[in-house]
Amino acid sequence: MFPATRLRRLRQHPVLRDLVRETTLSVHDLILPLFVRPGKGVKKEIVSMPGNYQLSVDRLVEDVGAATQLGIRAFILFGIPAAKDATGTPAWADDGIIQQALRALKVRHKDILLITDECFCEYTDHGHCGVLRDVNGRRDVDNDLTLANLAKQCVSHAQAGADLVAPSGMMDGMVQAIRHGLDDAGFTGLPIMSYAAKYASGFYGPFRDAAESPPQFGDRSSYQMDPANSDEALREVELDIEEGADIVMVKPALSYLDIIRRVKDRFGMPTAAYNVSGEFAMVKAASAKGWIDERRVALEILTSIKRAGADMILTYHALDAARWLK
Ligand code: PBG
Repeated sequence: MFPATRLRRLRQHPVLRDLVRETTLSVHDLILPLFVRPGKGVKKEIVSMPGNYQLSVDRLVEDVGAATQLGIRAFILFGIPAAKDATGTPAWADDGIIQQALRALKVRHKDILLITDECFCEYTDHGHCGVLRDVNGRRDVDNDLTLANLAKQCVSHAQAGADLVAPSGMMDGMVQAIRHGLDDAGFTGLPIMSYAAKYASGFYGPFRDAAESPPQFGDRSSYQMDPANSDEALREVELDIEEGADIVMVKPALSYLDIIRRVKDRFGMPTAAYNVSGEFAMVKAASAKGWIDERRVALEILTSIKRAGADMILTYHALDAARWLK
């Protein structure tokens, strides 16, 4: 007659709700992406990403200090170089923008983790993630030529103080090439977080303004994954683990919670998820219109990403979330 099991019993008392909660979001789960550009005293808001800025090195050092006050301890750096070329050579210049940022941050902040995004789209004048070559009459990124450059970029970042390198270009064999490059240079203990399952996504729109890195022709479908595929993500992740990835990432996060769960269940690896620019911008825009409650929705999204199996989340909401979680 009456229901035998009453799940609502455990929902009556707030303390009991806390006790039975399965997923807890902590500021320690969060990684804040930051954009660094040349200059002095520059702090330029990214229009489509309110509360996020392109920063010169001096302002970056300040903002990282403020973030640490809120409990954020992990940062991923993206560089906007002074000049770009066809190959992306500014990416491994010893006085490159990321290298300068790493050195400045290491002097001022001791207890933070500095992650570097390893890719060329910000450094090439064509905006693609590697070296171009004509393949069957079509301009495309040459996989193997790009690998050697990736290793150089990572070694240069390691020498400047990176604690963790994160290749995001979706080249086949990138983790192995980077691992060998780092090992040969003596960085055998430096871990790799691979953007292992990265999809060709419309959700990267605002990022390309932030990093000034849109492809000047075509799109990234010849190297990033088709959003329709899931088994293929497992093959991508498996390969990266075999090649030496220490942490595997799924990106974007919100439309790919199923992928996060499959990756976590299958491999049991430390798993990262990238709550990307478009996911962030949607929440900001709708809340600016008063259509959703930003705090509630953002925390719900971050919690759901963790619930899906992510151990850590790269998110532009990191500063807001740190405030809300205090
Ligand atoms: C670089 C890179 C991109 C992002 C992270 N690293 C852009 C892209 O692949 O086009 C997107 C991050 C975001 O949208 O927040 N390859």
